[in-house]
Amino acid sequence: MKIVNVAGARPNFMKIAPLMAAFEAYPRIEPLLVHTGQHYDGRMSGLFFSQLGIPEPDINLGVGSAGHAAQTAGIMKAFEPVLLERRPDAVLVVGDVNSTIACGLVAVKLGIKLIHVEAGLRSFDRAMPEEINRVLTDAISDLLFCTEQSAVNNLRREGIAEEKIFLVGNVMIDTLRRNRAKADESKILQELHLSPGGYAVLTLHRPSNVDDPAALARLLDALETIQKELPIIFPIHPRTRKNLAGSPLGKRVKTMANLRMIAPAGYLDFLKLMSQARLVLTDSGGIQEETTILQVPCLTLRENTERPVTAELGSNRIVGTDPGRILAAYRDTMEGRGRKPQTPPLWDGHAAERIAGILVENLGSDG
Ligand code: UD1
Repeated sequence: MKIVNVAGARPNFMKIAPLMAAFEAYPRIEPLLVHTGQHYDGRMSGLFFSQLGIPEPDINLGVGSAGHAAQTAGIMKAFEPVLLERRPDAVLVVGDVNSTIACGLVAVKLGIKLIHVEAGLRSFDRAMPEEINRVLTDAISDLLFCTEQSAVNNLRREGIAEEKIFLVGNVMIDTLRRNRAKADESKILQELHLSPGGYAVLTLHRPSNVDDPAALARLLDALETIQKELPIIFPIHPRTRKNLAGSPLGKRVKTMANLRMIAPAGYLDFLKLMSQARLVLTDSGGIQEETTILQVPCLTLRENTERPVTAELGSNRIVGTDPGRILAAYRDTMEGRGRKPQTPPLWDGHAAERIAGILVENLGSDG
C-alpha cells in the first residue's frame, strides 16, 4: 500500500512526523514523503525535520513563495508528474495550507484516494484562505480524520458520508507529548534571560492581522500596554517581518523595550517557551491546541476559531482584536480568573497510531 504523504508549510511538519513514525509499524504501508517547498527557510522547515526526526523527503517540489494562485498552481503542476510516476494507492494531506488543497486536487483528478488529517475544522470565515482550503479539501477527500467532535458535526452537516469520517484525536498533540521531555532541556529561557512565568509569548501571522496596517496598529495598542508590565517574547514570522520592515509600525515596535522580537524559534525551543510562559497571545490555530495541553492561558487575537474545543474545555479565550477587549482579558488572566483546562477527548498522543490502523483496514482491499 503506497501512500504519498504531503508536507509543505511549518505547521504540517509537526503533523506529518507522528504519522511517518506510526507507518513504520506496518510493513504493508510503503510511505513516501513529498515536501512541496511552500516553506523553505531553515528556521521554517529544515530545523523541524531534524528536531522531530522526520525522514528526509523523498521528493522536494521546491515551489517556494508566490501569490495564492501562482503558489497553488505551481504545487499542482509539480506534484502531478510525481503521482504519475509513483502511482500511489493514496495521497495523505494534513492541515489547511495551500499545499493541502493543491496536492489533494491533483490526487483526486488522477483517481487516487485522498486522506485528510485534521478534517472538518471550520472558522466559518471565508475571508481566511485556510477556510477555503479546508472546505474544498474535505469535499474531495475519501477518508477524513478529525481532531474534535465539532469537526465531525461540521462534516456531517456538509453531507459527507458517515463511513468516511473518523474521530481519532490530534496528531499535533502526539508530537507535543513525544517531545515534551526533550523540550524541557532547551536552554532558551537562559539564553533570553527569562524566568518561568515571568513573560508572555506572542505570535502573529494571519493576513487579517498583519497585512492591514490599521489592524496591526490596533493590536500594537494593546501590546504596548502589556509589555510595560510583562515582557513579551515575539518570534517573528517572515510574513510579519516583511510587513514591519521599513514601515512606521516597525519603528513603533522598536520603541517598545519589552516587546522582544526574536527569529522564528525551532520546535523544541518554542515548546519550552510556551510551557513556561505566564500567558500566550496568538492568532495561530495550532498554538491554541498546544497551550490547551500545556495548561497555559491562551488569548486568541481573532474573532473566531476553527478549534472550538480549545475554548470550551481548554485554556483558550477568543478575545478578538479590539485593544480594550484584549487588555481586559489580559487582566483577567493575570488575576488568575479562569477555569482549570481539561484535555479534549483522544488528545492522548496516539492519534497517528489510530490513523495508521484505520488506513490499513480501509485501504488494504487486496488483503
Ligand atoms: C502559511 C499558511 C498558513 C499557516 C502558515 C504557518 C497558506 C494559505 N497559509 O502562511 O495557513 O498558518 O503558513 O507559517 O498556505 N516566507 C519566507 N520563508 C519561508 C516561507 C515564507 O520568508 O520559508 C515569506 C515569504 O515572503 C512569503 C511569506 O512569508 O511570501 C508568506 O508565506 P506563505 O507560505 O505564502 O504563507 P504564510 O503566511 O507562511
